[in-house]
Amino acid sequence: MEKINLVEQIKKLKKERKAIILSHNYQPPEVQGIADFVGDSLELSQKAAAATEAEVIIFCGVHFMAETAYILNPGKKIILPDPETGCPLANTITAKALLEELENYSNLAVVCYINSSAEVKAESDICCTSSNALKVVESLREHQILFVPDKNLANYVNSQTDKLVIPWEGSCPIHDKLITREEALKLKEEHPEAKFMAHPECRLEVLVLADRVCGTSGMLKYVKESSAKEFIVGTEAGMAYRLKKENPDKNFITFKESICPDMKCVTLEKILHSLETLNSCIVVPESVRLKAKRAVVRMLELS
Ligand code: 13P
Repeated sequence: MEKINLVEQIKKLKKERKAIILSHNYQPPEVQGIADFVGDSLELSQKAAAATEAEVIIFCGVHFMAETAYILNPGKKIILPDPETGCPLANTITAKALLEELENYSNLAVVCYINSSAEVKAESDICCTSSNALKVVESLREHQILFVPDKNLANYVNSQTDKLVIPWEGSCPIHDKLITREEALKLKEEHPEAKFMAHPECRLEVLVLADRVCGTSGMLKYVKESSAKEFIVGTEAGMAYRLKKENPDKNFITFKESICPDMKCVTLEKILHSLETLNSCIVVPESVRLKAKRAVVRMLELS
C-alpha cells in the first residue's frame, strides 16, 4: 500500500478503535509522524497513565515500555506493533537473580531503571528513568542503593551523589559499546564548535567529555535553549531526526554505528495491522502488576 494510503487508513482506524499512538524518540521518522505523542521513557509512562479516554494504546517502542503502560493501565489494550522488540539491557537481569543478590545485603534500597521487566520492577523499591535517576536516588532514606540493571547510569548517579550506588552488571550495547571515547574525541576534534550531549547509559569515560549529560528529551530541551549551532548526539542515532525537525537551523552529528535494531522494527504496516487485528496485547499477571505498579507510581509521584 502506498504510504499516503497507509497513513489515511491508520488515522481512520485509530478513530474507530478509540486508540492513541505513543512513540519513543528513537522510532523511525514515519512512525513519529503518525504518533499522537512522541517522548522519552518518563513522558511516555506519564502519557500512558493519563490516557483516560483511549481504549487502545499502540506503543511504538520496545517491550518494557509497553509493559509499563499496561502496569499503569490494565483496563486498556496495550499493543506492541512488533511483539518481538525487546531491550538487551532489560534482559541482563531477572527477578530471581535480583532476589539472590539481595541476600548479600541488608538495609539497602533497590532502584530499577525503567528498562527492566515487570517482574524486576515488582521486586524493586522504586523505578527511575534517565531523566530522574539522581532525584529518585536522593529521595530515598537508605544510604546504600542497589541500582539495576544499567551499570553506566548507576556509576554516573554515584558520581553525582553522597549515597553509595552499587551497580548491577548490565548495559545497553549501543550506549556502552558503540558510543566510544575514541569516536567522541574524534568527533569533538572534527567539530570544535559543537556541544557534545551524552546519554547517561554511556560509559563514564565518555560522559566526562560531554557538555551535557541527559536523556533524550533533555537533549531536545538543551538544544532549544542553547545558542550553539552544532551538536554531537551521544545516544541512539534516530534521536537526530526529532532534533533536526524541531531545530532546522542547527546541525546534528551522530555516532556512526549507534543504531538500536529493536527500535527500528516498527513500521506503518505493522501499526495498521495492530489496529486491524488488535493482536499482540501486552499483559502482566495481576500479582506482578500490582507490585510493579507501586515502584512505578512512586517514581511518577516524584516527577
Ligand atoms: P530516555 O528515557 O532518555 O528516552 O531513554 C530511553 C532508552 O531506552 C535509552 O536507551
